[in-house]
Amino acid sequence: MRLVLIGPPGVGKGTQGQRLIEHFKIPHVATGDMLRAHVREASDLGKRAQAVMSKGNLVPDELIQEMVATRLREPATHEGFLLDGFPRTVPQAVGLAIILERMDVQLDAIIALEVRQEILLTRLTARRTCAHCGTVYNLVIQPPKIMGKCDNCGSGELVQREDDQPETINERMEVYNRQTAPLLSYYRPTGLLHEIDGDGPVEVIFQRILAVLPAGK
Ligand code: AP5
Repeated sequence: MRLVLIGPPGVGKGTQGQRLIEHFKIPHVATGDMLRAHVREASDLGKRAQAVMSKGNLVPDELIQEMVATRLREPATHEGFLLDGFPRTVPQAVGLAIILERMDVQLDAIIALEVRQEILLTRLTARRTCAHCGTVYNLVIQPPKIMGKCDNCGSGELVQREDDQPETINERMEVYNRQTAPLLSYYRPTGLLHEIDGDGPVEVIFQRILAVLPAGK
């Protein structure tokens, strides 16, 4: 299965992405996570990305393109993958089409999750991530069993993402509307785009996604 997951900040790409990769046993190619790993390692790309990400803007297309192309050249992605947060601009979508053509493969579906903006803001301000293992919580709907402690690895470091401050969230929403939303018109004529209501319980949304995916993949 070769999938693309797009949608505004906080819509649930990471949450649904985790379920999809477990269900289809495919690698999760999440550009936000990859960039944050570069920032932690203080690589050249990480240094360039940090300033842009902390303001809520997009990392330049050519840097992202190269990072994704390198990942898709790895044997682990040859049988399938889930792209989460990429493409995010029309030029990135054009770049992806070229990469896939070279690999002689095609996408099976593009899932666009949609949720009202007020809900996105509530979700993002309540998000906490384990600094050690990356498990994502939500203080309102999905808190850890012991407050402040990661259920998965026991770490006491549940942190708020730097870009989850209200003013940065607003900028990320604007960037989404300006630069990423045009992807919907770009992908609609392909017949592969499925626009899915991302409001409701996590499992219900997951079933909505599974229902539109091609069977037997
Ligand atoms: P990225 O990490 O991709 O962030 P994003 O797109 O802003 O999305 P988020 O991770 O904030 O949200 P999500 O949709 O994954 O939601 P989640 O499942 O966590 O990108 C970060 C930055 O990197 C960008 O701003 C940009 O600078 C850069 N970047 C990345 N890709 C790039 C690219 N291609 N080009 C250029 N720059 C790029 O859920 C959010 C919260 O809601 C969680 O707490 C969760 O528990 C909760 N939640 C999830 N589902 C539900 C539900 N159904 N009901 C209630 N709560 C829910």
